[in-house]
Amino acid sequence: SPCPSSQICPASPQNRPPPSSRVRRPLPITETLAEFRLTNDQLLEVKKRMRTEIQNGLGKKTHDNATVKMWPTYVRSTPDGSEKGDFLALDLGGTNFRVLLVKIRSGKRRTVEMHNKIYAIPMEVMQGTGEELFDHIVQCISDFLDYMGMKNTRLPLGFTFSFPCRQTSLDAGILVTWTKGFKATDCEGEDVVGLLREGIKRREEFDLDVVAVVNDTVGTMMTCAYEEATCEVGLIAGTGSNACYMEEMRNIETVEGDVGRMCVNMEWGAFGDNGCLDDIRTEYDRAVDDLSLNPGKQRYEKMCSGMYLGEIVRNILIDLTKRGFLFRGQISETLKTRGIFETKFLSQIESDRLALLQVRSILQQLGLDSTCDDSIIVKEVCGTVSHRAAQLCGAGMAAVVDKIRENRGLDQMDITVGVDGTLYKLHPHFSGIMHQTVKELAPKCNVTFFLSEDGSGKGAALITAVGCRMREQEES
Ligand code: BGC
Repeated sequence: SPCPSSQICPASPQNRPPPSSRVRRPLPITETLAEFRLTNDQLLEVKKRMRTEIQNGLGKKTHDNATVKMWPTYVRSTPDGSEKGDFLALDLGGTNFRVLLVKIRSGKRRTVEMHNKIYAIPMEVMQGTGEELFDHIVQCISDFLDYMGMKNTRLPLGFTFSFPCRQTSLDAGILVTWTKGFKATDCEGEDVVGLLREGIKRREEFDLDVVAVVNDTVGTMMTCAYEEATCEVGLIAGTGSNACYMEEMRNIETVEGDVGRMCVNMEWGAFGDNGCLDDIRTEYDRAVDDLSLNPGKQRYEKMCSGMYLGEIVRNILIDLTKRGFLFRGQISETLKTRGIFETKFLSQIESDRLALLQVRSILQQLGLDSTCDDSIIVKEVCGTVSHRAAQLCGAGMAAVVDKIRENRGLDQMDITVGVDGTLYKLHPHFSGIMHQTVKELAPKCNVTFFLSEDGSGKGAALITAVGCRMREQEES
């Protein structure tokens, strides 16, 4: 029964004993969560396996069967400050769809000015036909141009499209497979720049010059590198999970040429799709995967990104309820609902400033009627799942920075990682645990994480600026 307000709730902040003595928790809960607690050796093993998959993705002979694809992006350098002009940017694939106008000024007083509007993409559009999706996107661009009073200017556009794409140039990207909540038909295997251009043509209302298709990790790296030249890695810990970095051309066997560097979009979310993480996946991970839009795919992403953490939590809670340890054994309709535990709720539940009474009130808002003991268990489940997520993400990042260090033949290396994503930004513990894990697993790298907000917009504009400059050089 709920704690009466006159009685001191055993876990109210004034009266909070250390966690272990708080409640005598039934053993099965401890056992259930134990599977999520990874040892240092297990994390080192994850790092090592990531390194193997990186190698497979880069190798000519191994690429086709590789899971971590290491796609070339045709971005060959980070910004040098000479980028300038007005650009449109689209950002599709994160929490929101946005259209942006980005004005970049070069010279002594470099500035980037941005205007943007957020648009909803209804579920039926995300999972409808490709034509409907791109018509919707173009409709949003049209609204934005009206709003800015710019219908008659043919602006260069950078398209941040945060899905795996096989790129053959800066402005061509074939969608390999949808991820996260998207599943529009007739897009996989198509060049998404072509689909966008066709959508613009169908509307016969305005014209745009699509110059670049950009992954959000790459936009994030570029945005950070614009401020901080040592940034050569981009990381997204948000709805999805992925990283990119500047790799030596000589190591990218899937692209001609050996000189200089190119940014590779790792698509590390697919790590584990060949079964190499099966020994650490739990029955709850498998349940989340089985019920997802893309079963069997993006297994690492499903263990460490915002779209799935809440689902893992929900599956554990259902199991504990079924076994009679939670919610008085009653599985409510809410608990059966997919997607209820969004990143923002997990972040609130895990906030240290929140008293358990407030945790209960959040659960209440979600339609879950909890006792004090329930709220303690829920908080612990959330904490365990997100702790593992941050550690796994850190193990992947440790593999990346150590690879870069070895590429450069250094014993010790300083490097900056540009990061963005709702999980990284909103969650109270994710970033700290991830940083700590990288430090422990890659002790020869001194890694600075730089929150690079709005990477998808600014970065796309910076890449578009470079693309325009390259095109002008080719023409002259
Ligand atoms: C996509 C990546 C993207 C990541 C973060 C993944 O699902 O495959 O392309 O970078 O999410 O948004």
